[in-house]
Amino acid sequence: MANPIGVLGGTGDLGLGLAIRWAAAGHRVLIGSRVAERATTAADTVRRAVATADVAGFDNDAVIAQCDRLVLAVPFEGVEPLLAAAGPRLGGKLLIDVVVALDFGKGGCRLAALPAGAPSVTELIQERVPDARVVSAFKNVPASELQDPAAALAADVLLCGRDAAARADVAALVADIPGLRPVDVGGNASAHAIEAITALLVNVNRRHKVHASIALTGLPD
Ligand SMILES: NC(=O)c1ccc[n+]([C@@H]2O[C@H](COP(=O)([O-])OP(=O)(O)OC[C@H]3O[C@@H](n4cnc5c(N)ncnc54)[C@H](OP(=O)(O)O)[C@@H]3O)[C@@H](O)[C@H]2O)c1
Repeated sequence: MANPIGVLGGTGDLGLGLAIRWAAAGHRVLIGSRVAERATTAADTVRRAVATADVAGFDNDAVIAQCDRLVLAVPFEGVEPLLAAAGPRLGGKLLIDVVVALDFGKGGCRLAALPAGAPSVTELIQERVPDARVVSAFKNVPASELQDPAAALAADVLLCGRDAAARADVAALVADIPGLRPVDVGGNASAHAIEAITALLVNVNRRHKVHASIALTGLPD
């Protein structure tokens, strides 16, 4: 397929998992890194997992230049510097935000306080790049299961963002991964709650030594 999906920070656990799954679904995937060599190595890893993969690795800037659909898959501390460097080049692009800012303190994992009192990472990103089509997705999906293309998935992917057409675009990409069901929850009012679920899942996973995700009941098929 033309129209590649770019994964910024695709050398990491979650980005690599998404790259593997979309490559298996027939998408062309471009992996981004701060260091191009790390991205080409990650592309080799995708090829080993999916023999038919159409994948290549570049530095993050080159991936932004080549893709209209991007996943921002870096730790929270990398988000603002990356967005500041990318600036207006992200305008009009679909930006899939998978980022959660976590605080691993006493008593367990909780959401970290965000700069300027931003209510969620998604809203912070949308504010920093107002012309990008930002959609929160995959925040409650553990990377470990994504990286094994043979592993059966069974999870809901909650989607929120201010642009309904952008949410629909991401829903189609979620549906391309067998076992994942997109659930459009509407605007950014739910962004904080989606991120809080990730903190909850981290605590569940630690306590029960599992890789839990979420699935809603009561929705139509
Ligand atoms: N892992 C999960 O199960 C999971 C689940 C839900 C959500 N998330 C969220 O998804 C995002 C990625 O998670 P991850 O586990 O894949 O993270 P990760 O492995 O720690 O990092 C992903 C990649 O980001 C790049 N990176 C690291 N520090 C950076 C910085 N300061 N600035 C720019 N790039 C940096 C690195 O790539 P290069 O060194 O090659 O540039 C790294 O390979 C995080 O925000 C996390 O909260 C993760």
